[in-house]
Amino acid sequence: MKVIVLFGPPGIGKGTIGALLSKRWNIPLVSIGDLLRENVKNNTEIGKKADFYMKKGELVPDEVVFEALSCKLDEQKNNKAILVDGFPRNLNQANLLESILKPEDRIILLNLVADDDLLIERLSLRRICKKCGAIYHLKNIPPKRDNICDYCNGELIQRDDDTPDVISRRLSVFRRETQPLIDYFGEKHRLLTISAEGGPEDILARIEQTGIWE
Ligand code: AP5
Repeated sequence: MKVIVLFGPPGIGKGTIGALLSKRWNIPLVSIGDLLRENVKNNTEIGKKADFYMKKGELVPDEVVFEALSCKLDEQKNNKAILVDGFPRNLNQANLLESILKPEDRIILLNLVADDDLLIERLSLRRICKKCGAIYHLKNIPPKRDNICDYCNGELIQRDDDTPDVISRRLSVFRRETQPLIDYFGEKHRLLTISAEGGPEDILARIEQTGIWE
């Protein structure tokens, strides 16, 4: 199995690009952020534990993330390839991912990069569908009708962690805890660094040019 990890700071477009690649390549997308938000919405034990950290823009403790993720990854183990958004985010999580894969499996880190100004602009104008989770941007990727999801007619809302102070916290947590994984992946696995500037189609073209899907 090929495990393609969508990696990068908050707002870079991991969810957006992940959804497009999943459709284009017909492979599953596992998003840990979505999984945790679903648990929060359903007020599960995992959700109750995760909510406290997510609201502050901190990483949810590893054991809570593993609990949420383990069955999801297990369900996917017979696929030829999967996309993973938001995991791993620290060395402990990277080691866990390695430990649950088979020796013949390959991990590829798709490292999306852009300036902070672009991330803040993308996050400030992001809206998500309350019902299906589809991602919009009020200027760049707007819905056809104001505040209504194109796919399911759900209401569009701003994420709780898209406030200026929580965005700034999430960015600093990324720099401190997650970004160091780039060196680790560069040495142990395949690392592809892609500019996330421009529209989604430009980014998809850059990703496909790497030959990652061959
Ligand atoms: P998570 O949901 O994963 O958030 P994140 O990593 O901060 O990333 P975002 O979802 O904010 O951004 P994105 O890169 O997906 O961008 P998007 O596609 O939406 O995690 C949330 C929280 O959960 C964490 O803070 C943590 O608490 C917890 N958590 C998650 N994983 C964890 C883990 N492994 N361990 C511990 N805790 C964990 O795009 C952003 C905006 O830009 C949108 O409006 C979009 O429409 C727009 N846009 C995207 N691409 C483009 C483009 N090319 N051109 C124009 N606009 C674009």
